[in-house]
Amino acid sequence: MSIKNGNVRWAFDLRSWRCTLPDLELATSCVQPEERERLSKFHFIDDFKASIIGRLLMRQFIKSCLPELDYNEIRFERDERGKPFFVPATDIRDKIDFNMDFNVSHHERYAVLAGWFGKNSKEHNGRQQHVGVDVMKLEYTGGGKALHEFFRLMDRTFTSNEWKFIKSRNGDQNQTAAFMRHWSLKESYVKNIGVGITIDLQSIDFQLSTDNLFTNKIVRDTVVKVGGKPLNNWLFEESLLDNEHCVGVAVKNPSPEYLELSENELIFEVIDFERLMHDAKPLLNIDPMYCQMVLNKKLKKTV
Ligand code: COA
Ligand code: MG
Repeated sequence: MSIKNGNVRWAFDLRSWRCTLPDLELATSCVQPEERERLSKFHFIDDFKASIIGRLLMRQFIKSCLPELDYNEIRFERDERGKPFFVPATDIRDKIDFNMDFNVSHHERYAVLAGWFGKNSKEHNGRQQHVGVDVMKLEYTGGGKALHEFFRLMDRTFTSNEWKFIKSRNGDQNQTAAFMRHWSLKESYVKNIGVGITIDLQSIDFQLSTDNLFTNKIVRDTVVKVGGKPLNNWLFEESLLDNEHCVGVAVKNPSPEYLELSENELIFEVIDFERLMHDAKPLLNIDPMYCQMVLNKKLKKTV
């Protein structure tokens, strides 16, 4: 699990995780009590798995950045809009002067984390790097509604320029892919600033220069206007995790170390459960009844 110049792009393939009882016992003893409680409320096991893996990605990210920290002492809180942040114990803050930001997303087959960790430096003029990430399956399910009808209902989500790009694609499949690509860009932006989808999405106008995304290739030439003004000091990374999932990362105030990275170094690294839990140390006791309750949850569909 690599950190490149302080930057992390990790993806977890939920479909290939078997989620055995021992896996579940370990996973559910490595989250904070209030999160274990929150996770129990998911109706479907798919949503439970996606969300708990997101939490474990966050823990592993902190542990990888701050190896001197005990895994079971890592603690997160959520801000008023639900965005998780790390709460460092004061003795760590006293020892290391650092900044960090991270964000998690999950959809269908993948849970992903984009993160940044850097020692505080005056060279940044106090401008800290921030990240937001969003993964989307390139699929329209629609419940029998035709795609153009769905687009009509979603009209206010995108600008006329964005719709022009989406609707100029050839056929429903390519239009769906372009829609999802714009969606993940927009969400990566709103998740970066932490507001979620509570702001006017038509005030954000993405301009794409590259027609198609590919696996193992990062596109970084997309730009955005917000409120009609080009946003400086922002970069957007886009790629496919596989042929069915796209991922967008919004980077605000990219650090000099980030700017040194080649596009290849920003390709998402797929990690499995063993690597995710490497050096994990339980915070809570195993709760066999809780694990059984999770295993009894329904599957949404074959995941
Ligand atoms: N900003 C950034 N990241 C957030 C966030 C926020 N406001 N809230 C939660 N997250 C993180 C969490 O890690 C979350 O994982 P969890 O649900 O397992 O805890 C993860 O992002 C979810 O991201 P994703 O999988 O991409 O979910 P989504 O596509 O459903 O979108 C939001 C998530 C945050 C964009 C969406 O739920 C939203 O807009 N919410 C509105 C937030 C808000 O303002 N609420 C009002 C509170 S009263
Ligand atoms: Mg999302």
